[in-house]
Amino acid sequence: MTTESNIRNIPLPEDHELIEHYQPRFLGMGGDHLVYEVGGHPDVVIKASTYYIKDILLGEKTKDLVATEILIKNDQIRELRAFWGKKHTVPERRYLMRVPISKDLLDEIFKNDWLRRVPPNGYESLKEVWTSVIVQEKVPEINNPEHKSFSFGGFVEDELENIDQVQYEKLNHTFITHETVLNEEDLNLFFNLQDSPKTHHLKDLIKQAESDNELKEMLKKFVLQAIDFAIKTGNILALAGENNVIFYKKDNGWNYLLIDATPVHSGPVFKASMEILHKIMLGENIDIKEKDLLKKGLNFTRTINGFAKSLGLNDFLDIINTQDSLDKINFSRIFKASLK
Ligand SMILES: Nc1ncnc2c1ncn2[C@@H]1O[C@H](COP(=O)(O)OP(=O)(O)OP(=O)(O)O)[C@@H](O)[C@H]1O
Ligand SMILES: [Mg+2]
Repeated sequence: MTTESNIRNIPLPEDHELIEHYQPRFLGMGGDHLVYEVGGHPDVVIKASTYYIKDILLGEKTKDLVATEILIKNDQIRELRAFWGKKHTVPERRYLMRVPISKDLLDEIFKNDWLRRVPPNGYESLKEVWTSVIVQEKVPEINNPEHKSFSFGGFVEDELENIDQVQYEKLNHTFITHETVLNEEDLNLFFNLQDSPKTHHLKDLIKQAESDNELKEMLKKFVLQAIDFAIKTGNILALAGENNVIFYKKDNGWNYLLIDATPVHSGPVFKASMEILHKIMLGENIDIKEKDLLKKGLNFTRTINGFAKSLGLNDFLDIINTQDSLDKINFSRIFKASLK
């Protein structure tokens, strides 16, 4: 059973006034947020962050710090909307709030924690927890089966135990350090490794674009804008999760929408990844949080570069500082004995 289907079966505490008033109905979750629709407000969804529930409960982040991070996030959303335009983004706002909770929900939230953390003593009797809550306009197109998710499905570095090391290095030397001239075989490597074979969303999009020129042109616009976004803002788009970015047809034309595209980290991840790579090239050690940031930066960069190439574009997003010498990077060594 997935966490999502378990959570769907856990009833919310009935005796809480927010639950009585809003009658939330669970819609789904990705890696972070529990997403609900609420009675009387058909145009919005409410998303409660499980990362912040854990960080605050364990005392790893104070409420004041979270309040500051929420301000930064709300600014980032403003920046995202200004950059990508209203047509491609969804109105949303974040708040620091107390939300109703139960022991069963907390057990599920802590299962498979990326740092293997466990709930604090006495969590069984908690009725409420603090967290960051997003109120976002509902996107009905998510329920249209014709829509396409632009996502790579899962971080390559989380699967390193099952991936041939030579292939992994080749993936990086092709789509990160730009060392080889790309050929058909490289694109196969991209679709077999970077685009998770379990979800194959990127392959599906390229296949459909072969016979749908309008989709192809919209995909090109998106990819070029993503490159420009990384360069100008120093940030990435969160492209791992299903439906974080969708392509859909409306009034016979294709559009794309960034729904959950800002990364969890509150600072600019592309810029941070460049700095971390530079540190590695200087022979310095990096900690687990830096590894996690770098993993996000690399997956975004490879996805954009591989997809651009699949569309026949020659544009390339560079995550390597121009003064750095490339042959010093052994990506497998950085991520082996891995992150999970
Ligand atoms: N605005 C929306 N309208 C309708 N449904 C939504 C909306 N936002 C999210 N959902 C539903 O909730 C699910 C999870 O949402 P979301 O991607 O925001 O969560 P997440 O945990 O932050 O994801 P990630 O794993 O990318 O961090 C989506 O796949 C979708 O089914
Ligand atoms: Mg998501």
